[in-house]
Parts: sequence; structure tokens; C-alpha cells
Amino acid sequence: MSTENNTMISGSELAAKLYHHLLMNTEQGKDAFHYLTERGFTTEMINTFSLGFAPNAWDTLAHFFDKRKVSLNIMEQIGLLAKRDFDGKFFDRFRDRVMFPIWNKDGKVIGFGGRVIGNDHPKYLNSPESKIFNKSKILYGFHIARSEMRKNNEAVLFEGYVDVITAWQAGVRNGVATLGTAITDEQAKLIRRNAESVIICYDSDNAGLKATYRAIEILEANNCNVKVANLPEGYDPDDYIQKYGSEKFRKEVINANQTTMAFKMNFLRKGKNLQNEAERIAYIENVLSEITSLTNAIERDHYLRQLSQEFSLSLNALKQELYRLYKQKK
Ligand code: UTP
Ligand code: MN
Ligand code: MN
Ligand code: MN
Ligand code: MN
Repeated sequence: MSTENNTMISGSELAAKLYHHLLMNTEQGKDAFHYLTERGFTTEMINTFSLGFAPNAWDTLAHFFDKRKVSLNIMEQIGLLAKRDFDGKFFDRFRDRVMFPIWNKDGKVIGFGGRVIGNDHPKYLNSPESKIFNKSKILYGFHIARSEMRKNNEAVLFEGYVDVITAWQAGVRNGVATLGTAITDEQAKLIRRNAESVIICYDSDNAGLKATYRAIEILEANNCNVKVANLPEGYDPDDYIQKYGSEKFRKEVINANQTTMAFKMNFLRKGKNLQNEAERIAYIENVLSEITSLTNAIERDHYLRQLSQEFSLSLNALKQELYRLYKQKK
């Protein structure tokens, strides 16, 4: 690795230590610590995930790096500092935020997510892409989850930092997150190298359900055995755990996961009036089209029978239509 990359990583590591110290041991960090406590973060969670606090000042980090002879230019390249236009002075890019270090596969800090304390916008500010930080290649929490992923031969995929951390506290320790973006091939491969099965546990809102749909395709294309957590509509994993507790989360959300086909059937019927003939037929066509991509004959038979029963259609008609769709697909 180049010396520049080394400086980028060691600077990030130093910043994480400073932020953590400011959160845990200083007067400045009290409000942030209180905010985290109110949200249910324990000291164990804060320490395990090395959370920190960036004070509401322009030069905390700039001054700290300067004193330690860390190149301010290089710290600007990784987005910890920014440069003032009119006099070229460096200042802190993250201010008045709870800081979540983001690690590479080896557990080295390569970036940060900073969350506002309260309800300001933007809610999350992330490190920009840089030589060391490529969001599409890493999974948040990977180095912490890795051993449990391998042991269970299963990973749980979340949307965000907070979900990974709260789930960890709730006893789900094989959780990783894509950082608010759609999962990439590279991330899917990283999971697959460590576990065969993946339970997707994205937010149960519109954006999360759509992202789940896409994640299923990408993970299955990378030979993962994919399942979808059973999170009631309107919740994200963290909301759910705060409201219903750890045990219910493990039992009724993670362990009570659904097949991807069951998830897709629910998703496809959302907002449709199945009493209406045209909408009903469109739904059935959509489901049949999904069934064409099932490789397992027993599964295909199962869902065909389910459709046949629900809509009082002959199995024969459904099979004929399925056959037509197969030919169309080729
Ligand atoms: P969400 O938008 O679901 O966060 O983004 P949230 O659950 O409301 O956040 P809290 O619970 O109030 O703190 C999920 C994840 O997507 C990434 C972050 O990793 C976040 O945890 N994200 C979201 C960003 O990176 N940038 C954004 O602007 C928003
Ligand atoms: Mn600590
Ligand atoms: Mn979300
Ligand atoms: Mn969320
Ligand atoms: Mn949330």
C-alpha cells in the first residue's frame, strides 16, 4: 500500500479515537452521549462499535492533526477536513454529529458516518468516496460479524449502522449493512465467501421493500440462499427492537423469515385491488412470471397450487400459462 494510503488510514484511526474520547470523557460530548442513551445505546454497544462525537466547532480535528504533523491535505482528500475558499484554511467537515466509524474488511477505519443529534438535515453525512473508502465494496460491521457469519453459515443484511448495532445488542451478531445504497455484486460476493444464506432485513417502508426486491436478484445471482425477515410494515429493525424487545425480534422477525417468493407475492399485491378482474389477472401473471425463475420443481408446484386455491383457477390453466411464459422468456 502506498504511504499516502497508510496516512489516510492512520489519520482515520486517530480521528476515531479522538471522537470516541470526546464522547466518553468530556463535557462537550455529554449531549451526544445523552442522545445515544435515550436511543437505547448501552456503553457496551458504544464501545464495541467505537462510536464517537464530533464537536460543534470548526477546528477540533484540524488542530489535532496539525499538532500531530498529520498532513491536512491528505485529511482533506478523505473528507475529514475541508478547505476554506478565500484563505485556504482547513476546517472540520463533521461538526456536532455522532460519529460511526466505518471499517474495511480488516477492521481498519476508512470512513465515517455522522448523524445529527436530533432531527436536523441532512440526517446522515458520510465520508466521500476516496482512495481508501469505496462504499460499494464494503459492508458495515463486517469485521465484527465475520466469525458469527461463518459459524452460522448465515448473514443478516441491514440498511444502516443503527440497525446493525441494535440487532447486535439483541443477540443477532451476524449482521452487516449496505450503507443506504443498493447492494452491489462485490458486496454479495463478500457475503457469499463467508456464508451461504442471507436474511434481508431492510426497512419495511416503500424504499426498503423496493431495495429488498433488487437485493434478492443480486444475492441470488451470486448463489446465495436468500430469505426475507418478517418485519411488519412501517418499522425498521431498530424501531422494532425498541418497541417489542430483543426476544420478539429474534423469534418473530429474524427466525420467522419468509421465502423470497412469499415476499414477492406480498410485494406484488400491495396497493392492488384483487377484487378487480383486470388487476387480479395482472397480479396472477406477475406471480407466474416470478415462478418461471424458480429452479426447484417442488417449489413451483407449491406456489402454483397456492394460486390455484386462492383464485379458484384450474392447475391446468396455470401450467399452460406458465409454459407460455417460459417460451417467451427464452
Ligand atoms: P434511514 O433513512 O433508514 O435511517 O437510512 P433511519 O433509520 O431513519 O435513521 P435513524 O434511525 O433515525 O438514525 C438507513 C441508513 O442509510 C444510510 C445510513 O447508513 C443509515 O443508517 N444513509 C441514510 C446515509 O448514508 N445517508 C443518508 O442520507 C441516509
Ligand atoms: Mn471505549
Ligand atoms: Mn430506510
Ligand atoms: Mn431506517
Ligand atoms: Mn432507524
